[in-house]
Formats: sequence, C-alpha cells, structure tokens
Amino acid sequence: MPHRPYVIDELISAKAIAARIEHLAREISQVFEDTDKLVVVGLLRGSFVFIADLVRELKLPVEVDFLEASSYGNAMESSREVRIFKDLRGTIEGRDVLVVEDIIDTGHTLAHVNDYLKTKHPARMKTIALLDKPARREVDFKADWIGFEIPDEFVVGYGIDFAQRDRNLPHIGKVRFTDDAK
Ligand code: IMP
Ligand code: MG
Repeated sequence: MPHRPYVIDELISAKAIAARIEHLAREISQVFEDTDKLVVVGLLRGSFVFIADLVRELKLPVEVDFLEASSYGNAMESSREVRIFKDLRGTIEGRDVLVVEDIIDTGHTLAHVNDYLKTKHPARMKTIALLDKPARREVDFKADWIGFEIPDEFVVGYGIDFAQRDRNLPHIGKVRFTDDAK
C-alpha cells in the first residue's frame, strides 16, 4: 500500500448516494419532462462519477457536455479566482441546461460558471451539486438541488480528490490527518 499521511473516515455510503440520486433524478425528470433534449453539463473533474450515475437515472433524452473551471489547484484552500480551462463542446443557446457539480464550498466556482454560461443564452438553467458545505459560503449561491449538506470537513471519494487522489473511492469520506503527517 502506498503511504498516505491521512486516513479516510466514511461519511456517506455508496448505498446512500445511490438512493439519493434516484430520488433527485425523479424530481429533475419531472421538471424537465417537456424538454426536447436536456444538456447536462458536468464540471470537470470532480463531477465525473456523479454525472455518470445521475444521467443513467434520468428518464429524459439528454446530451452530456463538460466544462473545466479552476478554483482549487492542489491545495486545500479555495482561491477566489475562477478560470475556465475547458469550454463546452456544444451549444446551449436556447436549450435547457442542468449544471452538475461535485461540491459547493465557498460558492465562487458555481457563481462564476453560472454567470459565464448565462452569456451563452440557455433557455433554462438549473444546478445540482452532490455536496454542499453551507458553513463555508463566501458568495451567495444556491443550487436548485443538493444531494447532501455536510459539515466543514475536507472530503474525498466518488469523484472528489485530495491532490488528485482518492477519486475512485465508491463512497464519500472525510480526511483525517494522522500524527505522522506533521
Ligand atoms: P468553491 O468555489 O469554493 O465553491 O469550490 C468548489 C470546488 O472546490 C469544488 O468543485 C471542489 O473541486 C473543490 N472542493 C471544495 N471542497 C472540497 C473538499 O472537501 N474536497 C475536495 N475538493 C473540494
Ligand atoms: Mg471542482
């Protein structure tokens, strides 16, 4: 086993995530039931597992596209500046859009991405995030759907990383540093 200076305590099980996604997908499918073809926009990289499970529960015709925005780098603190690294491949003008994010922390990323996508004139745009840390919010941003509200803890798994590690954990865990890490 490669050395990790921290341990991961399970916070949300894979089963609980699956059940929550099933529920959310039902609500989303109702909201967009008249939509011709919904554009589901995943924010890379953290949303890749969530979006894969979510779209398979949507009872709708969907198109999947991705956008990559920065805010974190490899550090554990969010920076204020948000940049778009990879833009959408397709067009969203006049289309219904669902933006899919892994986690809302300070809110800077989603606030910026939402403003940016609005300049492309979608018909309707809604946002879903798997996790929300309301205690850390710095800008007023509210997603239309949230999977789970979590306390101010650094989490990994289910697509979410710590310095590019642990995205492949099937559950969400919180990072706890062990003494030899100091
Ligand atoms: P925000 O701009 O502060 O809302 O940050 C959102 C982004 O920061 C998320 O898309 C994540 O990539 C990253 N992030 C926030 N909290 C965590 C965490 O607990 N673990 C890993 N990444 C996180
Ligand atoms: Mg992210």
